[in-house]
Amino acid sequence: MSMTSKADRAAVYNDKVVRQFAIMTVVWGVIGMLVGVIIAAQLTWPALNLGVEWLSYGRLRPLHTNAVIFAFGGCGLFAASYYVVQRTCQTRIFSDGLAAFTFWGWQLVILLAVVSLPMGLTQGKEYAELEWPIDLLIAVVWVAYAIVFFGTIGIRKVRHIYVANWFFGAFILAVAVLHIVNSAALPVDLFKSYSAYAGVQDAMVQWWYGHNAVGFFLTAGFLGMMYYFIPKQAERPVYSYRLSIVHFWALIFTYMWAGPHHLHYTALPDWAQSLGMVFSLILLAPSWGGMINGIMTLSGAWHKLRTDPILKFLITSLSFYGMSTFEGPMMAIKTVNSLSHYTDWTVGHVHSGALGWVAMISVGSLYYLIPRLFGRAEMYSVRAITVHFWVATIGVVLYIAAMWIAGVMQGLMWRATNPDGTLTYTFVESVKATYPFYAIRLLGGFMFFCGMLIMVWNVWKTVVGSKPVDAPVLAPAAAH
Ligand code: HEM
Ligand code: HEM
Repeated sequence: MSMTSKADRAAVYNDKVVRQFAIMTVVWGVIGMLVGVIIAAQLTWPALNLGVEWLSYGRLRPLHTNAVIFAFGGCGLFAASYYVVQRTCQTRIFSDGLAAFTFWGWQLVILLAVVSLPMGLTQGKEYAELEWPIDLLIAVVWVAYAIVFFGTIGIRKVRHIYVANWFFGAFILAVAVLHIVNSAALPVDLFKSYSAYAGVQDAMVQWWYGHNAVGFFLTAGFLGMMYYFIPKQAERPVYSYRLSIVHFWALIFTYMWAGPHHLHYTALPDWAQSLGMVFSLILLAPSWGGMINGIMTLSGAWHKLRTDPILKFLITSLSFYGMSTFEGPMMAIKTVNSLSHYTDWTVGHVHSGALGWVAMISVGSLYYLIPRLFGRAEMYSVRAITVHFWVATIGVVLYIAAMWIAGVMQGLMWRATNPDGTLTYTFVESVKATYPFYAIRLLGGFMFFCGMLIMVWNVWKTVVGSKPVDAPVLAPAAAH
């Protein structure tokens, strides 16, 4: 690279950083989901904790959530946003050096998480477990990411800012604000800190963060992917550009207020809980607006779904998105939440979003990206993509159906009372009744994981011996 002149470099996109992030998405996906399978097995057979504290469920669980959300999901979002922002702005990325810094910095954050979480070092805040020195590194990498992304928007060669970039931009800005506010803490030494907030304020800040991590990390960023890769793969324009703009503003405005639905029936003031519930119900509308916009982009091209497994991944992911964003508002209704909270229904809801939506849209986008980034016409085996699709889809369905049944059953068992007011069931009876469903979840999760292994093989075959290519920057008149 150093041998090429600045002008040569400006004539092509920086696809190196996209390639790096794309490959690491697959790698971290496999690792994060393997840990998911391990903890699912531990819930089925607790002896698998092996008496080793490093491998205990309580330490591996945050490793799973961090690995799948921030390593797998994060690398996927970096790859997609860098690819899309260059194409839609028709310019090379703002800074190669800073982009490379975000890649290596993010990998370092992940490695530090992989070491520190099994050691039991944690701030005890869900999805924000990492201790303060790692939090600082995340903040620095994230600011660099914002400079690269918005810098590229700033030097764009087309006036218009394509809607995918609005979603990526909102994701980057919101995550910066959420991370910095929620991670404010008083360090006592290198490995230990105390939150700057206390009591119910701490809970509220945490779930303002937690819910918007769902809204902006696990949703807005992936909607950016959706708005670029579905029209591309379907070779159709977005169904309604006007709807995409309404979708954008309604979604980002509404998400910010829905956090209290994680704190129903707690010490949080009642009015705040009700506010969270109402905003969650409203959230159904923009979420479904987005889903419909994505699915209807296929109008006139429905037949492609039959033969194109990449489209199958992309469109099925939207169906799961629609399902989980219907389920979420229902679970936010206080009376429903009094049944679902603390049960496996929540875990089922999480994975219909996480596996069905986040993982499947990422996998579909990667199958689009990887051959293009490595100078191939298509993936080594299109058939293997079809197999991956079916194994993954059956896996998700097994996972979430098992958790729905287990969750509703647990909720009903816990609240059942005898005529004299005593509890009908002991807690351990509900655990015993859940056992078969944990086994089915393990099977479903294992199938999803096997799909990822098929992907690894297919990516390996596509990439090995290929010649990585950096695509030429399009002249402003051409379509992106
Ligand atoms: C092979 C695939 C996967 C398996 C087998 C799996 C398994 C699990 C298990 C067993 C738990 C703990 C549930 C509990 O505490 O009762 C869990 C939690 C979680 N997983 Fe996964 N997982 C997988 C993939 C993913 C992916 C791809 C994501 C995100 C993109 C994800 C996000 C989460 C989250 C956010 C939680 C915490 C849920 C909560 O606190 O309610 N998982 N997973
Ligand atoms: C309209 C959209 C949505 C609404 C209103 C919503 C609502 C909810 C509610 C009410 C809970 C249960 C809170 C509790 O009882 O503790 C929950 C949990 C959760 N949802 Fe959603 N949800 C939505 C979409 C999604 C999507 C698309 C995803 C994933 C991509 C997702 C991921 C999660 C996670 C990770 C949790 C578990 C948090 C925890 O306790 O650790 N949600 N959601």
